[in-house]
Amino acid sequence: MHKVYFIGAGPGDPQLLTLQGASALRNTGLVFAPDPYELTFAEQFKGKTVLNPFDFDFADLVKRVRGRLSTAHVAFLIPGDLTFYAPFQALIDYFDEDAEVLAGVGIANAAAARLKRTLDLPGICNRAIIVSPKTLGDKKGMPHLEELAGKGATLLIYMNNMPLAQLCNSLRRGYDTDVPIALLHRLDLPGEEIIIGSLDTIVDKTAGRDYFNLDDPTGKPALTLVVVGDTLTAKVDGSWWDYRREHIWKKRQKGS
Ligand SMILES: C[S@@+](CC[C@H](N)C(=O)[O-])C[C@H]1O[C@@H](n2cnc3c(N)ncnc32)[C@H](O)[C@@H]1O
Repeated sequence: MHKVYFIGAGPGDPQLLTLQGASALRNTGLVFAPDPYELTFAEQFKGKTVLNPFDFDFADLVKRVRGRLSTAHVAFLIPGDLTFYAPFQALIDYFDEDAEVLAGVGIANAAAARLKRTLDLPGICNRAIIVSPKTLGDKKGMPHLEELAGKGATLLIYMNNMPLAQLCNSLRRGYDTDVPIALLHRLDLPGEEIIIGSLDTIVDKTAGRDYFNLDDPTGKPALTLVVVGDTLTAKVDGSWWDYRREHIWKKRQKGS
């Protein structure tokens, strides 16, 4: 029986495809891949039919997949991974038993690696919150960005649609103080840029450049993730390790 693979394809560099994902991709002839994979995965796509899923309405997509499924596997590449902000759920539900989802490197994972920071840090940060201003405060009674920002919170902001100065003002109201912020633009893609500053300095550091494609009339995704919170710059020394070893890990070792 052939499968429809939904492959978590990572931020865009094929090196970040899992071994499982790479193997599934090798075994398919028809691949649905959004931007920017047709460029960065050119080698992996050789000899395959590659279509952009967003060029088709749902019925048309299903028909195309069904047309191939009797003779071969079909793959959809999911930017990052299915876990957050992936638009493929209706297809996964539709193909049900024939659908197989393969985990991938989410953009948050790639960002933490590039920043060399763990995004929750005991004593500094006690929650990491995944948000998009696009979907916040869109209904009465739902929280706004500034209500989620606050001492001890790391925010991972996807699909930002606010001008940077406005975003920083909103965050400043929530945090009630200046905190570090990082813009990760085109992570693991050609043209990658990482800009690190604070809510008070980041606008100047971008020198007027629109990292969110807010001025682009096509609404093309900007591929910029924003990470905010004290965990970005907090210093952690060895006492943190020793405290845990003394109070937590040692006991476990004895118990084993
Ligand atoms: C539809 S969401 C996809 C999230 C994805 N499913 C994940 O696993 O993280 C698209 C948003 O993810 C972020 N993003 C996607 N690819 C990125 C990249 N290569 N570099 C930086 N941010 C990226 C941007 O915030 C973009 O607006």
